[in-house]
Formats: sequence, C-alpha cells, structure tokens
Amino acid sequence: MGAEGIRVEKVSGRIARLCEKTANGASVPGSTGIGHTRWATHGAPTDINAHPHLSNDGRFAIVHNGIIENYLALREELIADGYVFRSETDTETIVHLLEKYYDGDIKTAVMKTAARLEGSYALGILCADAPDTLYAVRQASPLILGIGVGENYFASDVTALVAHTKNVIYLEDGEIAMLTPKSIQVFDCTGKLIQKPISRVTWRKGGYEHFMLKEIMEQPAAVKAALAPRLHDGEIRLDDFELSAEKLRSVNKIVITACGSAYYAGCSGRYAIEKLCRIPVQVELASELRYGEPMVDEHTLVLVLSQSGETADTIAALKECRERGATIIGIVNVVGSTIAKLADHTLYTWAGPEIAVATTKGYTTQLAVLYLFALYAAEKLGRLQKAEYSALVHSLKMLPKRLQETIDMNYQIPALAGRYTSQSLFFIGRNTDYAVALEGALKMKEISYLHAESYAAGELKHGTIALIDEGQPVIAVCCNEALCDKTLSNIVEVKARGAKVLALAFRGNRKIVSQADDVIFIPRIETIFSAALAVVPLQLLAYYAAKEKGCDIDKPKNLAKSVTVE
Ligand code: G6P
Repeated sequence: MGAEGIRVEKVSGRIARLCEKTANGASVPGSTGIGHTRWATHGAPTDINAHPHLSNDGRFAIVHNGIIENYLALREELIADGYVFRSETDTETIVHLLEKYYDGDIKTAVMKTAARLEGSYALGILCADAPDTLYAVRQASPLILGIGVGENYFASDVTALVAHTKNVIYLEDGEIAMLTPKSIQVFDCTGKLIQKPISRVTWRKGGYEHFMLKEIMEQPAAVKAALAPRLHDGEIRLDDFELSAEKLRSVNKIVITACGSAYYAGCSGRYAIEKLCRIPVQVELASELRYGEPMVDEHTLVLVLSQSGETADTIAALKECRERGATIIGIVNVVGSTIAKLADHTLYTWAGPEIAVATTKGYTTQLAVLYLFALYAAEKLGRLQKAEYSALVHSLKMLPKRLQETIDMNYQIPALAGRYTSQSLFFIGRNTDYAVALEGALKMKEISYLHAESYAAGELKHGTIALIDEGQPVIAVCCNEALCDKTLSNIVEVKARGAKVLALAFRGNRKIVSQADDVIFIPRIETIFSAALAVVPLQLLAYYAAKEKGCDIDKPKNLAKSVTVE
C-alpha cells in the first residue's frame, strides 16, 4: 500500500519471478504490505488465482493460508448479491464478504466475515481506508505476529520472521490482530482487547552454513532431550499420563498415522512395537486414512506423529479416528500445536525448533519417542523379562552417545556424495532397514531434487531390477544383521548388472566390505533402534549432494515446513 492506494503484483511460479517483476520490491513503494506463496487448492496455479485478492470496490486486499470449506455456498450467495468473482479460489469469497460487511469499521467487518467462514484460515487483510494498518485473524491455521522496531509483521510460520525479529506473539484460534508500524493489538472473537505474551525466538545457525546441517548435528542433544525426562533409574515413565496394563490389554490394534518423514518414522516404529509388544501395528498415510473409513474403534490406540502438529491431513485423520472411539496419543514437537491439543495424550519430542524444511532431528526424536513407547507398553503388558527390559532401556539411553559417534565416524560422506549422486538412486533394505531406506530416499529427493526410489530389497527382482544398469548407484542399508545375508544377495545381484553399491552397516561387518564398493559404518545398537543411527549418514548424503548441486537446502522448491492445507 502506497500513496496511490493498494497496488497488487502477483505471478505464478517461484518468488524470484516476483522479485524480477518488481525490481526486488522497489517498483511497489509503500509502508504496508501482504504477500503469500499460494499452495494451489482451489483453482490452478495461475497469476489470477494467486494472492492477494481484491474486493470489487478495490478497498480490501487479502492473503489466505488454509481452505474455506463452505466457499461454494458463500460464492453463490455473494454472486446473488452482485459481487463479481475474478478467480477460481475459495479465498476470493472472503474479500467480498469483507466488502459486504464493511460500514466504516474494519475490525467489525473482519469479525463478521470470520464468523461466516468454515474451514481453516490465517488471513492477512489490508484496507485502503487505513493505509498504515494490517489485520490478521486465524482459525485452525498457524499465525504468528513479529514485533520489530518501528515495524511489525505477521506470518504463518515463525521461520519467515526470524530474519527480521526474534520477538513474536502466537495468535490463537479466533483472535484478531491489528498491526501498525508502532503497535500491535490483539482482540478475542468478541472484539475485546486482550493481553498476549511475547515469546523470544532464539535460533541461530551457530556457525553452520545451513539450518539443516545444524539440525543434523543437533540430533544427539535432541534425542537426549526426548529420552532423558522419561528415563528414571532404568525405568520408563511417560509424562503426565499412564497407560495402565488393563488399558493396553484392551488394545487389539495400534494405528500409526502421519505424513512425509513422520510417516516413515512410523514405519520404523512399527517394527519396534510389533516385536516388543506383539500387537499388530498398521502404519497409514494420514491423507489416505482420513478418507479410508478407518477400521478403528475403542480397542484401537492411534499414534499420531507430527513435527509441526499442524499438518492438515494428519489433523483430519486424527479426527476421523477419534470419532470412531479410538484413544489418540500425539507424538508432536511443537508445544501447544493443534495435534497436541486434539490428542487424548501428548508425548512431546522435545527436538527444539526445526527450521530447515526437510526434517532431520524432528524425525529422529519421533523415533526415540516411539522406541520409548514400545518398551513402555511391552513392559506393562508383561511381554519382556526384567533383564531384557533393563538391557533395552540401557541401550536406548545410549542412543544420544551412539548418534554422536555416528556423526564423528562419517567425515567421508561429502566425498561419497560426489561419487554416488550424479543420477537417480535406489535405496534398498529389508525390514527395519527398508524403513530407513524410505526416509533416505525421501531426503535425497526433497533437497537435492535427484530422483530416488526406495525398495524392499527382496522386491527388486519383481520388476525394478530391470532398471539396474552399468553405473547405477544403489544405497544398500544392511544394519539388520539377521537379514544381512539376504540383502547381501541383493547387492550381488545388482552388482552383477553393473550397479555401484554404497552399503550402510554396523561397524565390524566384514562381509559387507567384500561385496559393496563403499561402506558407511555406524556403531552397533539393538536392531530395533538402528534406524535412528542409520538415517544420519543418509541425511548427510542428501545434504552434501544438494550442496554440490547448489540447491536451496533449507528451503527446497515446492515444499513447505508445515503443510496446513490439504
Ligand atoms: C512437510 C515437510 C516434511 C514433513 C511433513 C510432515 O511435507 O516438508 O518434512 O515430514 O510435512 O510434517 P509434520 O509436521 O506433520 O511432521
């Protein structure tokens, strides 16, 4: 917003295109602004559908993160009222509602508009009648206010603010904020002024080139933070709740649901829970489970995994399961997030803020909590001998130390990344190793943009082996020693077809050295806990591959840290 009123510039594609179009913003002078990188939900990713959207009278401009579920009904109502729609978005209904309810009082128009919306939204609103003021309101989508000096901000993720200010206010559902360069006021949904606490964000890259590398290196400390408060004198205690033996005995199925890496953490956790508790575990992608008429009931325990606690699909899956009577345990990093609030019980992963879009310590701390849960439940169910339980608890307690050793012994990864990441890759493994391979391939895709496929090693022969040619890189995870010989046979098979194989194994595994072209070693640990160590070299491999390619490691293209829309 400048002297000539509201000016809108928008383009489809990367933010760099908008920078080019506006000479890095210089061609749109002004003191108040709103912007949004749209994740296309309603309508194609075109210039017209991009935000901000303007009201017909040009008085209001808005940006919106979320989905308006009743937008069709609203759209019909507004068209009948004579409003003209320019885009295919659900968002545009909001800006016309603002125009409809505006009678000179912006805050009231915002409150009346918010009351008509169903679904999720974080809204940024600009009105030409108050050129120095921005309004923000949220419902089921994160919104954070940033307090600057002579300037104030809002964003849907705190990572967007840290370059400008470390002082933030977390807005809650229904709250409305009014920002000017010099003041921030927050109102509840009835319009009453309320006092909000100011939080201090204390993130720095700490000398690392990227947050991702810093967070990889923080894993020993993060896993320690996840484990230590729950380990007491060789026993596991959960935070503020207890699952009684009786409750656990009534559980006939555990469902783990999540998205992305959290889903892969669930795939690893499943092996630990099934092995120790002998309860069937079903791991489901939240985006599938939410529409899958989940077969859960009051005898199902659902573990909902999410670093952010705000992933829209995961929240929806949680709600579906809860409606059917299941008990929900949230395994979440962000304190006070939506999933933490919706779950019956929450186990925080205590990883600390994770800034890089691609998760690392978020994932390993999820594993740590899943391992704790598996051991806790197995002990309650009487499935473990005392000595076995004590040995496993001790092994878990050593995990942070083993993680540090894993990092220290793998200084050669940058060189290996150069040799193995020139083309698409295959990641193979069996059982627990397969679960790690899935996460390793995802990391590679996310930040280096190299195509990577993960296969259960025994499945290669059923088709994928047709793709193995001279020079094809294969990353073989062989930490599950009970199955190591089987995976070795697969290594031999792919090598016979010209593949070059980088294997990942426990220190001292000599057989692997004789077969693979290169080997990455990790310290020995109980097989059911091995994913937490094995993933680290794979994270580093992806990191150095991305670095070599000059990729935007902390903010990979097309990806968001927390995906708050479906
Ligand atoms: C996004 C992130 C992934 C993450 C996934 C689930 O896609 O880029 O790194 O694994 O969301 O996020 P959550 O916060 O629910 O763990």
